Amino acid sequence: MRNIQNLALVGFMGTGKSSVGRLAAGLLQFEFVDTDELIESQSGLSIAEIFKNQGEATFRQLEQQVVQNLSARQKTVIATGGGLIAAPANLAGLKTHALVVCLWASPEIIWERVRGQTHRPLLQTADPLGKIRELFDLRDPLYRQADVLISTDHRSPREVVQQVIHQFHLAQKQSQ
Ligand code: S3P
Repeated sequence: MRNIQNLALVGFMGTGKSSVGRLAAGLLQFEFVDTDELIESQSGLSIAEIFKNQGEATFRQLEQQVVQNLSARQKTVIATGGGLIAAPANLAGLKTHALVVCLWASPEIIWERVRGQTHRPLLQTADPLGKIRELFDLRDPLYRQADVLISTDHRSPREVVQQVIHQFHLAQKQSQ
């Protein structure tokens, strides 16, 4: 039997984890946390600075620590960085206390959503769409190991959050 205290949102960059997570937290009257924001406030550095000065491997270690520290939480919506569940231990850790919902989008839609933004170090390359496709192919099988998969293509955060909340209530009922 699962112990579902929290709601975790995983998925690729640009799938709306933070916007949907904030809406979900408001509707559920839960606290909202974002793993990238926790890392930034704990380290005093932006994600871009951590990647630049300390490298991606250090960032991934910080993500792992944050996941471990979340296990005692209750009534919290957790938005995660897009690469967090690339480490299988992170997905397993989240599942011990949260329903893990993956927000899914196709690479082309992701590109449309993130193309004007500059804060994601992994996309600061000559061919960002190519990078999205490459990471997407690697990660898609991992995202599909979430408890629930919700497509966000052609849907607004408000439409997506209704489905997320519905799934969360169902899972909570089943876990009681
Ligand atoms: C990353 C996604 C980012 C952030 C970092 C790495 C990734 O989070 O954690 O830039 O590896 O996909 P968002 O998914 O919130 O953009």
